Amino acid sequence: MYCLGIESTAHTFGASVVTGKGKILSNSRDSYATKHGGMIPSAVAEHHVAAAGKVVRQALADARLSVTDISLIAFSQGPGIGHSLKVGAVAARTLSYIHKVPIVGVNHCVAHLEIGRLLTKAKDPVLLYVSGANTQVIAFEAGKYRVMGETLDIGVGNFLDAFARHLGLGFPGGPLIEKLAGNSKKYIELPYVVKGMDVSFGGLLTDLKKKADSKKFSRESLCHSAQETAFAMLLEVSERALSHTGKNELVLGGGVACNARLVGMATRMCKDRKAKCFVPAREYLVDNAAMIAWLGILEHRGGKRQKLADTKVLPHWRTEQVDAPWRNK
Ligand code: ATP
Ligand code: FE2
Repeated sequence: MYCLGIESTAHTFGASVVTGKGKILSNSRDSYATKHGGMIPSAVAEHHVAAAGKVVRQALADARLSVTDISLIAFSQGPGIGHSLKVGAVAARTLSYIHKVPIVGVNHCVAHLEIGRLLTKAKDPVLLYVSGANTQVIAFEAGKYRVMGETLDIGVGNFLDAFARHLGLGFPGGPLIEKLAGNSKKYIELPYVVKGMDVSFGGLLTDLKKKADSKKFSRESLCHSAQETAFAMLLEVSERALSHTGKNELVLGGGVACNARLVGMATRMCKDRKAKCFVPAREYLVDNAAMIAWLGILEHRGGKRQKLADTKVLPHWRTEQVDAPWRNK
C-alpha cells in the first residue's frame, strides 16, 4: 500500500509517499519564509495554495509513482494555523474525492512521536517535542497519548526566534543563537521557570531583552545562558516524565532538536539514568509530510474511517483527544 501524506500546519507545505511497511519513498516540501520571521496567516495560506500542486507532483515523481497508485491520503488535521491547515485539507479532500481513495486526518504532534518510533529503535518513548510554536513532553500512558508537560506561553523555538530578532540576528533565530552561544562559556543567572511539569519562556525572554539593552553583557554570553537555561528547564521536565512513567527512552522532535547543545544535554541526562536518547535525522525533526503519511497508515490500520464531512480542520486539537487504537491492539 502507498499512502500520500500532506502537511500544512504552519510555514511548511509538504507531501510524502510512505509504504505500508514504513518505507519513506519521498518527502518534498516548500516553506514560506520572510527575512525577519513571523508570518501573516493569509500570506502563508497563499504560499501553500501556490506550492501545493508542485510539491505533491514532486513527491509522486520522487517515489516513481502516479497518483493512481495511491491507496490512502493522510493530512494534518491539526493543531496549527487555521488558514494553513485548510489548504492541506482541501488538497487532500480533492485528491480523495477525484481518485476515490480513503482520507484520514491525523494529529501533527502525535505524528512527530510516531515518526520517531518508526525511524529509531525506540519502542515506547517519551517525546520532547520542541518546535517554533509547540513545546510539549508527550508519552503514551493508560491507552492514550498524554501531554505530561508543556509550555504555559510561547514555544521554545519562538522564544529563541524572538530573542534573536531583538538582538538583530535575523531569522530563524535558533541556529544563529546556537552559533553565538558556542563562543561563550560565561553563564549569566536568568529566571528558571518550571511550574510542576510545565515551563514558561515569557519572563525569561523579557529578562534577556532587558539584559541585552543594558549593554552590560556580551551577546555571546547572553545566547549561551539563554540556551543553558531554556534547555535545562525542558530536560528537567523530560526527566521527570521518564521517571514518573518508568520509561527508558527519550525521542527528540521539532526544529529546536537540531540544536547540538540540546542534543548533548539530553544525551547526558539519559546516560545518567540509563535511558536511551534518540534523535531522528533533521528532515524528520522539522515539519514534514512523511510523519503524516506514516501516522495515516497506522490510523487506517487501527480502523479510522472518515467521510469528507468529518475532515474539518481542528486548529486546537489536543494530543489527549486522539484515540490511539494502533497502540492499544
Ligand atoms: P510547528 O511549531 O507547527 O511544528 P514550526 O515551523 O515552527 O512549526 P519547526 O520547523 O519544527 O517548526 O521548527 C522551527 C523552529 O526551530 C524555529 O523556531 C527555529 O529557530 C528552530 N531551530 C531550527 N534550528 C535550530 C537550532 N539549531 N537551534 C535551536 N533552534 C533551532
Ligand atoms: Fe511540528
